[in-house]
Amino acid sequence: MTQVLAVSNQAGGVGKTTTAINVAGALNELDYDVLLVDADPQGTATEGVGFRELYNQKIPSLHQVMVDPSRTSEINDIIQEHEEFDVIPSNKAMDALKDMLLTQVANSEMRLKLALAELDTDYDYIIIDCPPDLSQILDNALLAAENVVIPVEPTRRSIRAIEKMNEEIDYLESSFPSQIDQIQIQGIIVNSVESTPNNDTKQMLEFFSDAPYPVFQVPERVAIRRAWNNGVSVFQHDDPAKLNDARDAYLSIAEELTAETEVTA
Ligand SMILES: Nc1ncnc2c1ncn2[C@@H]1O[C@H](COP(=O)(O)OP(=O)(O)O)[C@@H](O)[C@H]1O
Ligand SMILES: [Mg+2]
Repeated sequence: MTQVLAVSNQAGGVGKTTTAINVAGALNELDYDVLLVDADPQGTATEGVGFRELYNQKIPSLHQVMVDPSRTSEINDIIQEHEEFDVIPSNKAMDALKDMLLTQVANSEMRLKLALAELDTDYDYIIIDCPPDLSQILDNALLAAENVVIPVEPTRRSIRAIEKMNEEIDYLESSFPSQIDQIQIQGIIVNSVESTPNNDTKQMLEFFSDAPYPVFQVPERVAIRRAWNNGVSVFQHDDPAKLNDARDAYLSIAEELTAETEVTA
């Protein structure tokens, strides 16, 4: 059975897109069939896997698939092949998606879930990169996935970000009791951890030490940024800078996810 995972945090610049691409890359390393969905109208993941040109073209995208119920099954036509996994790229037309979902679409929070149900390919994992807000698009992603990982900055500020995500999850669970079961936090990913963590980082790690979900750490590595520039995950990127610990970090996240969800490659 396909497992769907949303990568979410309402803050920008905390590592959502980096996590989505590299967890997808790690799952591919472990031989799973993966689809990466860029649900962020900014298209950072799309650019980071080399599809920047498609983002700027006037072509059908998730926008039409989510807005127009008669076009839901067209989700199969907007899939692109990347060397590591399949991709549903974002498109600049998605700038208008939030407003359209709010005002013009019936059953608007469920559109992505309904679209993923129409996929012809039987993926093991679908990873959804979410926009940096608490919008209808995020709600669509959380309801479609029912599983979420939350990348956070290595500071105490992140505690509030997790609280906000929990509030959003509670709201969705109470608003859509018959459509979904539970939205599970599969882990938080403390991103860009320095080799020598400062006191702020240490205090936030201490705060989460007894959390009811795994707390992963991903190191701050320039090679992670360079892999994004080259349109691949760290697993397809050779770099003179330290990469092995970044790869290990993403592999351990992927291994934990696969252990939790029991999909076999
Ligand atoms: N672990 C890391 N090491 C080095 N740079 C990182 C790391 N994680 C993210 N970055 C960089 O930080 C910036 C923001 O990350 P991004 O994944 O785009 O965040 P978000 O999707 O939450 O806005 C990007 O330039 C990205 O390359
Ligand atoms: Mg992003």
